[in-house]
Amino acid sequence: MGSFASRSCAEINVTTPEVKVTENFSRVVSHSAQNGGKGSSQRKFFKQYGPFLRMPNIGDIFPNFRAMTTEGEIDFYDWLGNSWGILFSHPGDFTPVCTSELGRAAQLMPEFRKRGIKIIGLSCSSVRDHEAWIPDILTYTGLQGPMPFPIISDEKRELAVGLGMLDPEFKDDKGMPMTCRALFVIGPDKKMKMSILYPALSGRNFSEILRVVDSLQLTDLKKVSTPVDWKYGEDCMIDVSVPRAYEDQLFPQGVTVKTLPSGKDYFRTTPMP
Ligand code: BEZ
Repeated sequence: MGSFASRSCAEINVTTPEVKVTENFSRVVSHSAQNGGKGSSQRKFFKQYGPFLRMPNIGDIFPNFRAMTTEGEIDFYDWLGNSWGILFSHPGDFTPVCTSELGRAAQLMPEFRKRGIKIIGLSCSSVRDHEAWIPDILTYTGLQGPMPFPIISDEKRELAVGLGMLDPEFKDDKGMPMTCRALFVIGPDKKMKMSILYPALSGRNFSEILRVVDSLQLTDLKKVSTPVDWKYGEDCMIDVSVPRAYEDQLFPQGVTVKTLPSGKDYFRTTPMP
């Protein structure tokens, strides 16, 4: 699929194979284009979503949007402010895996808050369905009080299409595709830092999401990388861009270089800075 980021909305031709990405996509676009491609609903659709009709890549500016949520209508950037953010989709309300996932995310809210991260869910169900489902999520987790984060209602599937979150394998009772389990981590600079895409039948691991966020936030500030299975507090790798001459200055806690058969000295570790 090509990138549309550099095209103006008017240049997007919905009949090109490039744009007709999936059956789901063309169904949603044709739904928006019932007036022969010139209707106001299509214009509105492309005005908001035209610049990002593909899944964002790492490093892309994550697009802004307006959406209805369980906490009212939001402008995504306003809602995010200068925080880190996680936007994650689920296939539908009143389904078991989704209930377990949103419950886990709600339980982990104090951990997300500690890291300065706002989180927001999304599915194509209505706000009314979200609101009726929330007591199930809270009861499942044993939490009291209001749901600690908003859930977007993307009933027209505009965000689902725009952000590449639809799963063609899973359709609702009206035959419309449901969202898969997509998750985006967005930095305070509004750039996408990380994404995952899981299918409907496989729930995500939110402890892993927190682990990656720890790595993202650390590597954003320090010249280190984090090795396989790393956890907060464990030794890190020194970023390959750091010349050996700067090691002592940048990593006063010490540097260990592992001897490897290649004889190259790239495998350098240091206590977590
Ligand atoms: C679930 O959350 O359990 C689920 C959602 C969509 C399709 C199948 C299962």
